[in-house]
Amino acid sequence: MPVDFSAFAAHCRTRVDNALDRHFPIGEDPTQLRAAMRYSLFNGGKRVRPILAYASALAIDPDINLDVIDPVSCALECLHSYSLVHDDLPAMDDDDLRRGKPTCHIAFSEANAILAGDGLQTLAFELLTKTDLPAHTQIRLIRSLTAGSGAEGMVLGQAIDLAAVDHQLDLTQLETMHRHKTGALIRASVAMGAISAGADDSQIAALDSYAAAIGLAFQVQDDILDVTADTATLGKQQGADIARNKPTYVSLLGLETARAKAEELHRQAQDALASFGESAVYLRQLASYIVHRSN
Ligand code: IPE
Ligand code: IPE
Ligand code: MG
Ligand code: MG
Ligand code: MG
Repeated sequence: MPVDFSAFAAHCRTRVDNALDRHFPIGEDPTQLRAAMRYSLFNGGKRVRPILAYASALAIDPDINLDVIDPVSCALECLHSYSLVHDDLPAMDDDDLRRGKPTCHIAFSEANAILAGDGLQTLAFELLTKTDLPAHTQIRLIRSLTAGSGAEGMVLGQAIDLAAVDHQLDLTQLETMHRHKTGALIRASVAMGAISAGADDSQIAALDSYAAAIGLAFQVQDDILDVTADTATLGKQQGADIARNKPTYVSLLGLETARAKAEELHRQAQDALASFGESAVYLRQLASYIVHRSN
């Protein structure tokens, strides 16, 4: 495996793209459903959650055959892509640009985007039953993805986000929202990579502290980029949070304090990996990437 992070990330992206293509439903579809699903999956996402799952598995077992992790990574990306398709809908953030292209509902209609999201979500859970892992491990993976994505995870975070529009949140409420809407699926990504590689409870607990820190940092940086980056680099409309009067780390704390918060979380993430040796190199590099990324 390459030590250089960008080479490792490129390797993971190729793996997950090939595996997504392999596992995509085949056969007749007289509708636009599968085209809308493919459009939303293969449109240039950074693949952060799959990369996290591979890196986490390698931290536990540096000799692991990553073929085992491919369906897990695919499941995470399907789930994430569905969350973006629904996040962009008129009833939610009402965005028309995603990953540099028209959002799914602009390209395919609102009803098709809702259904594409539904199809991607169910495909995610099906993929977890297609690993070569024992049935009891598959059940743990399904539980982990459910916790990260459902009404105790991402979906709850999205509900808090929508309820907060035009309202003032305090810092604790904002953190709760971010930890759910973005942090929960990132925690699941790290946990699922580790579970697939046979991690023990203490390893899973240490990795979960790491994941909680970078999961929050990821959304803090997303809020910062909404203000500081440009639309072409982001591939989504810059300034969308301000335009929709969304509470964010930047709107609550200001840019400098938000940046300091991201750095503090970065340090917490690195500290959480103290008990791991060289095998956690990619997780360390990923933490740095997440708080220093430009899109
Ligand atoms: C964007 O996620 C939505 C958030 C959870 C902040 P990403 O920044 O991972 O989006 P893609 O997949 O690379 O487009
Ligand atoms: C989205 O947060 C989190 C999801 C669960 C999709 P945002 O609404 O801030 O994500 P972007 O900025 O549209 O990518
Ligand atoms: Mg949103
Ligand atoms: Mg959004
Ligand atoms: Mg955002």
